Amino acid sequence: MHTPSSQIDQALALLKAGELVGIPTETVYGLAADASRPDAVAKIFAMKGRPANHPVIVHIAGRHQLADWAQNIPDAAWKLADAFWPGSLTLILQRKPHVPDAVTGGQDTVGLRAPAHPLTHELLQRFGGGLAAPSANQFGHVSPTTAQHVFNEFGEKLGLILDGGPCHVGVESTIVGLTGEHPTLLRPGGVSAEAIEAVLGVKLIHHEKTSTAKLRVSGLLDSHYAPRTPLLVGPLAALENEAHRRIAAGERVALLHRSHMLIAVAGVKSHAMPMDTEAYARDLYATLREFDGDQFDVLLLETPPQDASWLAVNDRVKRAASGWLT
Ligand code: TXA
Ligand code: MG
Repeated sequence: MHTPSSQIDQALALLKAGELVGIPTETVYGLAADASRPDAVAKIFAMKGRPANHPVIVHIAGRHQLADWAQNIPDAAWKLADAFWPGSLTLILQRKPHVPDAVTGGQDTVGLRAPAHPLTHELLQRFGGGLAAPSANQFGHVSPTTAQHVFNEFGEKLGLILDGGPCHVGVESTIVGLTGEHPTLLRPGGVSAEAIEAVLGVKLIHHEKTSTAKLRVSGLLDSHYAPRTPLLVGPLAALENEAHRRIAAGERVALLHRSHMLIAVAGVKSHAMPMDTEAYARDLYATLREFDGDQFDVLLLETPPQDASWLAVNDRVKRAASGWLT
C-alpha cells in the first residue's frame, strides 16, 4: 500500500504534539509516542489498557542514536547493532538518567531497536528523537500485522495509522539483555538466537533458564498474545479426535494444520498453515485474528516443529494457547 509523504508530515505533527500514531514495523505494528514525554507515553498505556509499570521499547533510526538513550554501552551492543539494525532486534541496555520512568517501567534499563520498515525508518530519521512503541493491540490481545488490525483494535480513538502494508516478519523482535555479566535471550523473535551467537561468539543465556531473572518483560506473561476464542494445541491425531467429539456436541470447530490431512473431519473448517518457518511466523497472528471472533467455539492448532529455527513461533503459540492436547 502507498502512504504519501504528507502522511508522514501528519504523523510528525501529531507526535510532536504529544499524540499517538500507529506505525508499521517489519515485525508488528506499533503504537507510538514521543519517548521523551511522559505525558505522551502515558497515553499509550491508557489506550492499550496496559499496566503502567511495564517498560516499552524506544525505537530509533540507527546506531548513531544509541548513546542518546543508553550509557556504559558494551562492545556487544555495537556489534549487534552493526549486524542487525535496522532490524528485528531489541537491546536492553543501561539507561541514560533522562529516560522517563514511564518508558523504562522505573527500571534502570532501556530497550532500544531500529526497525527496518522504510516508512517508519524515514519517520524516525525526520523525528530525530525516539519513539516509545509497544505492539498496537489491547493488552493481552494478538499483535497486529496490518493497518486494518490496528484499526480493529482502537477504531477512531487513534487519530492516525500509517499504512505500511502487511508486516514481513510477523512476530515481535528478539530481545537481548546486555546489562548483566552474560548476554541473555529475553524473548525469541525475528532474529534467531544462532545468528546473534554467531556475531557475539558466545552462547546466549536463555531467560527461562535463569533463576534470578528480575526484569519485567510483559511479553513473558503467559497469557500474552491470546485470541479470544479458546485455542487448543496438539498433534494432528489428538486434534482430529477432539474435532470429532466437539462436532458431535454441536460445536463449530476450526482446524489449523500443517501436515497434509488424510482424513477431513466432516463439519470442520480446515486451514493449512505454511510449511516454512518464515512464512508461518509472518502469517500466524493474522491467521489467529481471522479465525478469532464469534464464528468458532474452538480453534485447534497442530503443534509446529520443535527445531531451533521454530523457537519464536513456538514461543508465541505457547502464549496464545489456552490448552494442550496429547
Ligand atoms: O517487534 C517489537 O518488538 C514490537 C515492535 C512494535 O517494535 N514491539 C513490541 O513491544 O513487541 P511490546 O511492548 O509489546 O513488547 C516489548 C517488550 C516487552 O515485553 C517489554 O517488557 C520489553 O520489551 N522491554 C522493553 N523495555 C525493557 C527494559 N528496559 N527491560 C526489560 N524489558 C523491556
Ligand atoms: Mg505486545
